[in-house]
Amino acid sequence: MLSIRGTPVDFGLSLVVVALAASPHSSTLATFASSSSATYNLQRMHKEKSPQETFEELANVCERLGLKNHNWDVYGDFDKDSSQTSFLRKFESEVAQELGTQDAVFMPSGGMAQSIALLIHATTIETSSGSRTNSSSSCGHHCFACHHTSHLLLHEQAAYYHLLGMNAIIVDTLHQAEGISIPPLTFAIVQQVLDDEYKKWSIQPSTLLLELPHREIGGKTTPWNDILQIRKYCTDNNIKLHLDGARLFEATTGYPDQSLQELVQIFDSVYISFYKGLGGMTGAMLLGSEDFCGQARIWLRRFGGNLYTLLPYAVSGWAGYQRQWKLNSVQEKEEKEVNGPLLLSFVQKKEKLVRLVQLLCRRRYIKSSRV
Ligand SMILES: Cc1ncc(COP(=O)(O)O)c(C=O)c1O
Repeated sequence: MLSIRGTPVDFGLSLVVVALAASPHSSTLATFASSSSATYNLQRMHKEKSPQETFEELANVCERLGLKNHNWDVYGDFDKDSSQTSFLRKFESEVAQELGTQDAVFMPSGGMAQSIALLIHATTIETSSGSRTNSSSSCGHHCFACHHTSHLLLHEQAAYYHLLGMNAIIVDTLHQAEGISIPPLTFAIVQQVLDDEYKKWSIQPSTLLLELPHREIGGKTTPWNDILQIRKYCTDNNIKLHLDGARLFEATTGYPDQSLQELVQIFDSVYISFYKGLGGMTGAMLLGSEDFCGQARIWLRRFGGNLYTLLPYAVSGWAGYQRQWKLNSVQEKEEKEVNGPLLLSFVQKKEKLVRLVQLLCRRRYIKSSRV
């Protein structure tokens, strides 16, 4: 028996799911039952836990990490580094090392992290190119470009405008849609919009924001060659390239020939989330050069985001990162004992999806352009 609900699911597979029932914000992407009648939920890989269970688990993680003394971080531990007794700074440098960036800053939310990235890039570009004529216009350096389904456009109450005083150049791929399958950002469309529609008015964004995977269109990813071309275009045109990597770890399944570090090093800055695929309570990290992260810490203070302590969120994020990404075999085994065998890794999920879609295609429920 098969049932499918929710938005199109596509980890680089270009699928078109006909008969969509739920809104794009539905928490369920696709649920199906196998012949053994086990139900797989392809989005929610995490067992739902009560606050009490969550806090008990956090206490266990603290014990495992040896956080028994006065290990609280205070106001982001800006004055400490990873060699000192700051769990927060160690966590930041552990993730920076994994992703191959010089530094990382833990923050309460992705909204805050990406606002900070946009602000830093706008000021850096303005200072470095000083004489850009349009910097005080309604766009120019005070604007950024993004796909028309970007989280910043759809779900953040236009914070970029109200908080940052910036405007958005919308790179719309709707007109290229085949049926209901909306394409992700590609080099051709970026170049077309920025060159043909904006350059002639001397309007240029300070940042191009690329979301990988594109959440609202079922997790599609921009092809690798397009990313390389977009990088070159940004360098040539003095535009910073930022990655909205809320689901970066899932995105890696779209680039089987590239390492996580190869993907990350294309960008001037990267944001990742700890409460989505990684399953932490909440929290985000902004990653980039030492200089960029130094500025990010200043902006974090200005935004009031370096809470008196971030420890509960950092510990929870660290545990999710270990469990879901580092796949430490002992922890994975423990997790399976608690949650049962239905917990799927990102890669297992992708395999299940491919099988599901192939099955549905045979039954003509789905039109597929490339499976
Ligand atoms: C693609 C994307 N970017 C950014 C965010 C913002 O993250 P936060 O809720 O931590 O502000 C989200 C949250 O759902 C998201 O899906």
